[in-house]
Amino acid sequence: MSHRGFFICLEGIDGCGKTTQARMLVNSLNKMGYRAIYTAEPSRGKIGSFIKRYCLHRDKRISSIVEALLFAADRVEHLDDEVIPAIMEGKVVVSDRYLFSSLAYQGAAGLDINWIRKINEYAIKPDLAIFIDVDPEVAIKRLKTIKSVMENLENEIKVREIYLKLVESGDLIRVDGNRSKREVAKEILHLTLSALKKIK
Ligand code: TMP
Repeated sequence: MSHRGFFICLEGIDGCGKTTQARMLVNSLNKMGYRAIYTAEPSRGKIGSFIKRYCLHRDKRISSIVEALLFAADRVEHLDDEVIPAIMEGKVVVSDRYLFSSLAYQGAAGLDINWIRKINEYAIKPDLAIFIDVDPEVAIKRLKTIKSVMENLENEIKVREIYLKLVESGDLIRVDGNRSKREVAKEILHLTLSALKKIK
């Protein structure tokens, strides 16, 4: 069993199934004897709650610069309050979205990726970052209700293109999400266990 913590993030467009997959991964790891926890961005902290109210649940998108700055601020709080303390206790932290969501979503809104990286300089590098790739048309149809201003086909197509570039650059590992829940979960667990073995 590993004695140092481990940080994984799952990324993807809205409706790709990453929340379900993150929860399945946490359950599988806990059953295997790891101490795994689920966490998410936007976080449940004060800035995260503000983002949900102020940025996501409204008719029109706010300035993408403000969005990027708020998500970056929430990330610092999320790391300080939830992720880093759990890693220090030797836990496996599975985050439903992280830095790459800012690169993809705020990048798709037209911001310079290097600037987004710059304002996120304090965000630690995850041990494993997975992109669950689902066809945007399928993903949009899966959404029962539109929860955020980001959720429209045109936007998700642009977001996916940036995620794919991050796969090319080696920032993310692509998992084909156009398969059954179980098959996707099996591959994510396999990638996680291989990465966990390397740090033992
Ligand atoms: P969720 O539906 O996965 O909870 O995510 C909420 C929305 O927030 C989703 O549409 C993507 C968006 N988002 C960003 O635009 N930038 C970010 O940095 C993060 C973490 C989320």
